[in-house]
Amino acid sequence: MKTTASYIRVIVLTVLAFFLMEFITEPGETWAIVKYPVIWAVLGLIFLFSIAVEVISETLQSILFRGLNEEAQERFIASEALRKENNWFKKTYKKLLAKKPIEKESEIVLDHNYDGIRELDNVLPPWWIYMFYASIVFAVVYMVRYHVFDGIDQEEEYEIAVAEAQIQIEEYKKTAKDLIDVNTVEILTGKEDVAAGKTIFEANCIACHKVDGGGGIGPNLTDDYWILGGGIKNVFNTVSEGGRDGKGMVAWKTDLKPSEMAQVSSYVLSLHGITPADPKEPEGDLWIDPNAPVEEVEVKQIDSSKIQIKMEDQPVTEDVVEK
Ligand code: HEC
Repeated sequence: MKTTASYIRVIVLTVLAFFLMEFITEPGETWAIVKYPVIWAVLGLIFLFSIAVEVISETLQSILFRGLNEEAQERFIASEALRKENNWFKKTYKKLLAKKPIEKESEIVLDHNYDGIRELDNVLPPWWIYMFYASIVFAVVYMVRYHVFDGIDQEEEYEIAVAEAQIQIEEYKKTAKDLIDVNTVEILTGKEDVAAGKTIFEANCIACHKVDGGGGIGPNLTDDYWILGGGIKNVFNTVSEGGRDGKGMVAWKTDLKPSEMAQVSSYVLSLHGITPADPKEPEGDLWIDPNAPVEEVEVKQIDSSKIQIKMEDQPVTEDVVEK
């Protein structure tokens, strides 16, 4: 490990190995190295192995070098020096700096001299100039795109992103219908859902609630009165968790999927207001939907311009009366 190049090779190899392993294992959300700590050990091995390879190749080289005769050694040194000189990286680096070597500084020193302090007329470093040109090109492209041709701004970008996310959420919901629980359930009004709810109801519930929800063993489901609370959330909860102990309404969460419970609950609520053939007396409390729109109350407004004020201790003039 005598040269910088060998250090760089070791580091680059280890980093490459790291990314390769991340790429192969596809850990999903987290880093593979977090998920599988054994990768640390593998990377450590690769690190040590590459150091070993570097050391061995250096040793080999020096052994071979010592085995050469003097003339050959000189030739080898000369060719190494030439190789170093022609190194592409070094050459480019020097070019981008464009530094005057200290021996040649006399060429660019300026005339003035302030108490022995003199100034060099160095050129701007090419790396800086190239970046400056690049920023000009960028500015032109940017201006034409966003100001002349009205490219999308941040606000539009945001709207587009939100719209895309909305579509993704819809897609997700389609495949993940059963993620709903009592907190997220919403009443389903789609024809298919209500029809599916009806099928489930007729298959499981009519023995106790009757086909039309009029009630038998179980209470009437069509009236305004609920023992365990009305509204989709309470009904879903009752269907999922069952009624009070010993009453006969079991918890359906073991038999029905969340999506099915939402469908049957929505169907039950769709029965509200119909008149069953043989309705059971209302049981429980009157349920008032807390989200129902408040009824509008009419407030009479008095037109203030039509109010007349009589002032008794002052003579009433004609134009006041007119108003
Ligand atoms: C074995 C008879 C039986 C079956 C089957 C049954 N229920 Fe019930 N259900 C009852 C009884 C009894 C109650 C009253 C529970 C209580 O008082 O705690 C009830 C209560 C309810 C309530 C609450 C009513 C209120 O007033 O709060 C809902 C909603 C309900 N059932 C829906 C269903 C649905 C949907 C099904 C089918 C998936 C079903 N039930 C199947 C017997 C049954």
